[in-house]
Order: sequence, then C-alpha cells, then structure tokens
Amino acid sequence: MSKKNLRIGVIGAGRIGIVHSGSVSDTPGAEIAVIVDAIEESAAKLAAQYGAKHTTNVDDIFSKGDVDAIIVGSPTPTHVDLISRAIDAGIHVLCEKPVDLDINRANSIKEKVANAKTNVSIGFNRRYDPNFAAVYARVKAGELGNLEQLILTSRDPAPPPQAYVAVSGGIFRDQVIHDFDIARYFVGDIVEVSTFATNAFSSEIKAEGDFDTALTNMRSADGKLVSIVSSRHAAYGYDQRLEAFGEKGMLQVSNMAPTTVRSFKADHSEQRDPYLDFFLERYAASYRKELALFIESIETGKQLNPTYEDGCKALILADAATESAKTGRVVKL
Ligand SMILES: NC(=O)c1ccc[n+]([C@@H]2O[C@H](COP(=O)([O-])OP(=O)(O)OC[C@H]3O[C@@H](n4cnc5c(N)ncnc54)[C@H](O)[C@@H]3O)[C@@H](O)[C@H]2O)c1
Repeated sequence: MSKKNLRIGVIGAGRIGIVHSGSVSDTPGAEIAVIVDAIEESAAKLAAQYGAKHTTNVDDIFSKGDVDAIIVGSPTPTHVDLISRAIDAGIHVLCEKPVDLDINRANSIKEKVANAKTNVSIGFNRRYDPNFAAVYARVKAGELGNLEQLILTSRDPAPPPQAYVAVSGGIFRDQVIHDFDIARYFVGDIVEVSTFATNAFSSEIKAEGDFDTALTNMRSADGKLVSIVSSRHAAYGYDQRLEAFGEKGMLQVSNMAPTTVRSFKADHSEQRDPYLDFFLERYAASYRKELALFIESIETGKQLNPTYEDGCKALILADAATESAKTGRVVKL
C-alpha cells in the first residue's frame, strides 16, 4: 500500500508562502491541502496554481481535520499564536523567522513548545544552503583546526517598502536574524554583542526609527569572534558571503551568479552575469532541504530543523544588537 501524502496547509500567500508552496509541490510525499491568506484573491491565486483549496479563515486549519502540518509564512506578529494553536490541534508546524518581535511574548509559549507532541521547527533556511552547509561540515570535521573568526556579509539588493519596515521590528530582528542564527550555528552561544549602525542612504527607513546599515561584532562563550556586515541595499545585487577562518586556513563562500561564464571584450574583462536576484533565487535549494528535513522529522520523531529555542536565542541577539546600536554600549548576555 502506498504511503499517504503529508497534507500541508500554507498560511500566508505572500513572498515566502509562494516559495514554500513551490517546495511542497516539488516534494514527493507531501501535498498542499489548503492555502490561507487574509486576502482572498492572494489565497485563491496561489491555490489555483497547485489545485489546492483556499480560505481566508485560519480557523479552518485547526477545526476541519484536513491538514497534518502547517507552514507559517504570514506576518511575524501571527507566529506565536499560530504555533500555539497548531500544538493544541496536534498539527506539526514549520514557522518562518523571527518567532516574534517581542522576546517576552516568544518566551510565553516556550514551555508549551518544549512539551509539544508535534514537531515545531523554525525557518532558518540558510543553514541548508549547500555552500554554507559544506563549510559548516568541514569546520565541524576539524579542517580549520580551531575556528577563530567567522565573517558574514549580508546585504539585500534593495530595501523593502516603507510599510514593511514600519512593522518589521527593525533591521536586526527582520534581516540580520538569519546571520545571528548562522553565527550561533557555527560558534555556539554568544556572550557579547557590539553594534554600530547608521542611516547611510534611506530617509524612509530613518523615518521609521530604523537603521539601513550596520556592523556587528560578537564573542562566543569559548572566545570565537564573529563579524556581521549588513545593509538594506547593494547596487550590484544580493551580497551573501561567508568566511570561516581558523588556525589551519580559511573557507570562503562567495556570491552566486546563475552561470560561471565570464566575458572578455574591448571595453571590459572578466565580466559575469549579475548575482542571483534575491532570497527566492539565491536560497531556493535551502528552502527545499528545510522542507525535506521537516518531513523527515515528522516521520522519525527526531528534531532535524532549528528549534523554537534557536528562534528565541536569535531574537535575543537581535535585541542585543538593537540595544547596542542605540546606546553605543557592548551588551553582555
Ligand atoms: N526565511 C526567509 O528567507 C524569509 C523570507 C521572507 C520573509 N520571511 C518571513 O516570512 C513572513 C512573511 O513575510 P513575506 O515577506 O512573505 O510577507 P508578505 O507581506 O509578502 O506576505 C504575507 C502574506 O500574509 C498574508 N496575511 C496577513 N495577515 C494574515 C493572517 N492573519 N493570516 C493569514 N495570512 C495573512 C498577507 O495578505 C500576505 O499575503 C515574515 O515573518 C518574514 O520575516 C522569511
């Protein structure tokens, strides 16, 4: 007898909900049961693409018994409540980052998550980028000896709309949170955070009391140093690099273009394709791997993805960076 598909409800039919729906559709053993969005047109359009049902009423997910798992890609303030309701309904949940914008609210369901009978995973997909994962495996295998420094460069191609910035929780909780998770993944718990941040180019971001440019330095519990270079724009496209440096050498991940073809002409040398556009393209493989691990976690009962606690710990680092940027002080954790 063939195994039944895992029936997945996708909540939020926006940028990331569209990515996750594509991954579910490409994954054997999983199917999109229903798409939920506050805007009916968005839900209906995405559902039609995959022959799924749609609704604007999230209660349907928890009352109708037609989903085994949900992927939460709705705005951040909905995450804690949806995780909590999924646990109550016996539904597995893969929830987007950040867990919340308020650590006290995030902490309010920490114990419930720890005791949950269903899987709760947080969408720190960058751990599964094939390049980052290869460096991680080689560092953990001891190729660099003692890891001494980790340098992450993470610049978006262009800033989000002002309305998104207004509710984003700021550059550290919204954007740099991915880098805080990668930092913790590589070096373990962080004990000191020092951030310089500024408004280098965007009056819209400044008007929201947020920064567009930042440099964060951190120290891990066992003395490893991490630097994170962040910007909400980059004229040359999505800038995502990683460098791990240790006693025996260095491993680097450089930016990715669709091809490695280089062109040489009278007016230029070594010209390449522009970098992959943004997270949808650059991290496409990582979203599929994240989903595959979520499904494997459900099947095996093992926690293979980042945990809710990982989500809370990254948020604590984002809070510390925000405080350091605003006060000019080093924040000790
Ligand atoms: N892991 C990543 O790479 C990544 C990338 C982008 C966004 N995100 C996260 O995903 C979440 C969504 O971001 P986005 O960029 O897709 O936003 P978005 O605005 O493009 O999409 C959000 C969608 O949710 C819908 N929505 C709003 N309230 C809702 C509700 N109560 N119930 C159901 N649907 C609702 C909106 O109508 C919209 O279609 C955020 O938490 C963000 O931080 C993660």
